[in-house]
Amino acid sequence: MLMKDKAKIFAKLMPKIEAALSGGAARDEKLQRVCDVLKAEVPYFDWVGFYVTDPENPDDLVLGPYNGAPTEHVRISVGTGICGRAAQTRRMFVVQDVSKETNYLACSPDVQAEIVLPILVGGAIWGELDIDSHTLSPFSSDDGEFLGKVCSLVAEMVRGED
Ligand code: SME
Repeated sequence: MLMKDKAKIFAKLMPKIEAALSGGAARDEKLQRVCDVLKAEVPYFDWVGFYVTDPENPDDLVLGPYNGAPTEHVRISVGTGICGRAAQTRRMFVVQDVSKETNYLACSPDVQAEIVLPILVGGAIWGELDIDSHTLSPFSSDDGEFLGKVCSLVAEMVRGED
């Protein structure tokens, strides 16, 4: 996809993300709406979901709301896979070709690329936004920038509730 098309899609999407996260709905309902909007509007986002740190065991991430094929990876340890490593480093993790990754938890053979962004609340990993793509090398800095804003809005929502 051309950079200018991406920028256009993301600019149009931001108000929809803000709307998804506003109102009196429960947290998971809002997160579900974010997944639904991202999956529906970005053609190369084929699986969009949140993993949330288990409050009982902060070394585990537990699958939260998502949109896409069901996954067997409903609990992931920090340090394992792309999600677990993004939690460990607290940094965005972009993999343009998952076939080149050894520490990777495959959800479906259709997945070619993945981007994971940590969501930090009060200095700790509250959770992550995880996106799988069936397209090879689909992500650019526009994706990171846009999804970083989405994660900041989610963090703001969580902070506002706690
Ligand atoms: N591929 C991820 C696991 C989660 S699924 O993509 C939904 C990983 O390696 O951590």
